[in-house]
Amino acid sequence: MTMRRFEGRTVIVTGGARGMGASHVRGFADEGASLVVADVLEDEGRRLADEIGERALYQHLDVTEEDQWAATVENAERAFGPVSVLVNNAGVLAPGVIEHTPPDTWRRVLDVNLTGQFLGIRAVVPSMRRAEGGSIVNVSSVTGLKGVAGIGAYVASKWGLRGLTRTAALELSRDGIRVNSVHPGSVRTPMTEPDRSESSLLADDDSNPVTRLDISRMVEQLAIPRKAEPEEITRQVLFLASDEASFSTGAEFVADGGDLLGPVA
Ligand SMILES: NC(=O)c1ccc[n+]([C@@H]2O[C@H](COP(=O)([O-])OP(=O)(O)OC[C@H]3O[C@@H](n4cnc5c(N)ncnc54)[C@H](O)[C@@H]3O)[C@@H](O)[C@H]2O)c1
Repeated sequence: MTMRRFEGRTVIVTGGARGMGASHVRGFADEGASLVVADVLEDEGRRLADEIGERALYQHLDVTEEDQWAATVENAERAFGPVSVLVNNAGVLAPGVIEHTPPDTWRRVLDVNLTGQFLGIRAVVPSMRRAEGGSIVNVSSVTGLKGVAGIGAYVASKWGLRGLTRTAALELSRDGIRVNSVHPGSVRTPMTEPDRSESSLLADDDSNPVTRLDISRMVEQLAIPRKAEPEEITRQVLFLASDEASFSTGAEFVADGGDLLGPVA
């Protein structure tokens, strides 16, 4: 029997139109949540919300825009009631060694991956107080726990999220709001496809010495030698968002196929 951990709860998933975000949206919907699919990808986002039906709506949200966050929370609350869960999932990747990363690219990655999550927490907290508590899941990465040559801006943004998560967990504890981060390894989504599409990728300059991350080769060396399916990360996100994780806050949850162990051979 399917569990129904989110019956009557309002959930916002940023970057919810595709990839891991879409998998999280489906997972929450299967367990009774009302959902806001928040993304800049209008067509994919609307299609997914339509597929779910009346318990879902698509909301245009660029996570870097404070006023769009206000509208997102307002529309969520008007449609479904106060927000209980925020999954800060939207993110972009910009390949490039530090020496060849244009400052504007650096700023944009930090803006989407870190400031976007900060703005989300700010926007959603008053609504979570009205819901008498909640859970915020910040999507970091295994790259937020180590160094990776060739994606410095991304790595820095994912490390930054850990500090934001821990601080928010302390500041919001007395409101009954838990805040945790997840740290996936390589997951099979458009972000890790060889022909990565524009909205997951900021710059891809072939003159840059490290622009092509060979994810397939990296994955072969893992203890679990494959990419994760999005659903394998969704299970962790749903756990943290639910009351099952009632004693976890400010914590980091890794699902990396053993990446942090180092290569097998
Ligand atoms: N795929 C992986 O291997 C992997 C591993 C670890 C962590 N992550 C993280 O997981 C999250 C989801 O990534 P994914 O792999 O599903 O990638 P994806 O590119 O398929 O999905 C990212 C989503 O975020 C949306 N987005 C991008 N910029 C946005 C903005 N400014 N405002 C709102 N939405 C925006 C995109 O439109 C897209 O729907 C990201 O934070 C990513 O960094 C991915």
